[in-house]
Amino acid sequence: MNKGMDLLSIHELSADDVEEILTLAADLKAKQKAGIPHPLLAGKTLGMIFEKSSTRTRVSFEVGMYQLGGQALFLSSRDLQLGRGEPIKDTARVLSRYLDGIMIRTYGHDRIEELARWADVPVINALSDLLHPCQALTDLLTIREYKGKNLAGLKMAYVGDGNNMTHSLMYAAAKVGMHFAAATPEGYAPNAAVVANAKADAAASGTTVTITTDPKEAVQGADVIVTDTWASMGQEDEHDARIALFRPYQVNRELVAASGEERCIVMHCLPAYRGEEITEEVFENFADVIFDEAENRLHVQKAIMALVMGD
Ligand code: CP
Ligand code: NVA
Repeated sequence: MNKGMDLLSIHELSADDVEEILTLAADLKAKQKAGIPHPLLAGKTLGMIFEKSSTRTRVSFEVGMYQLGGQALFLSSRDLQLGRGEPIKDTARVLSRYLDGIMIRTYGHDRIEELARWADVPVINALSDLLHPCQALTDLLTIREYKGKNLAGLKMAYVGDGNNMTHSLMYAAAKVGMHFAAATPEGYAPNAAVVANAKADAAASGTTVTITTDPKEAVQGADVIVTDTWASMGQEDEHDARIALFRPYQVNRELVAASGEERCIVMHCLPAYRGEEITEEVFENFADVIFDEAENRLHVQKAIMALVMGD
């Protein structure tokens, strides 16, 4: 990745960019564990705009900047003039005069695209309704730690709502040559344009993207099963209606066994809703993987920031 690049979507990255991020992330993780300083962003400041809640993203970006020798500013849209109607294009031009990079979590993906269009500094997508690239890149690093560095030919299955995680995971899998299958209820399938893009990427890397409504079909032969909340941020009102409809898509003991793979692992980006998309039993059986996954947000985002904001 070049200095100054935005990270809005994994689809816009090359396979080499993804490899570079994962390699640097593993290196920075090792340095952090060994207590070796790595002040790659000394004197730099990241602005973090949040229009939605966050635990992992906020803390990992803020701590990550600190570990890289820089600092981060938490900018809630409740406090910014953005929340009172100041245009994104003005916010972008003002913040570019103070900051070395901007991270944003918001609703419509078009808000992030507009911010990136007007900002002179790199913009990092920290979740939109459409995509969550930092999480999906993190998931790749975590899968490497459990399955080995070469991910090509492995199978990732996603079961649940066709949402931002589904989209970024299918982009991520296609870039590294993993087969991807998603099972979502009728009416909750992933975005058709994203699926078409992912299929094109998969064809280039010699793999497949399959979309089905049958969870058992999706998980068959899976090395990794991933799930996510049935009602994302902004969909709170739909929660109760979704629960009944999504019940057959719960990741439980029976569904994990349907993979037929003894070494199949289960991942979840968190927060997790036990008894809904995942059972308590399966969650706790794979808690080591899931909390490694949460930790890896820190290392992957440090790598992304060092690459796009570093000198
Ligand atoms: N997985 C994730 O993005 O978590 P937060 O919503 O807590 O940031
Ligand atoms: N799909 C979830 C992911 C949370 C990290 C949401 O958008 O709320």
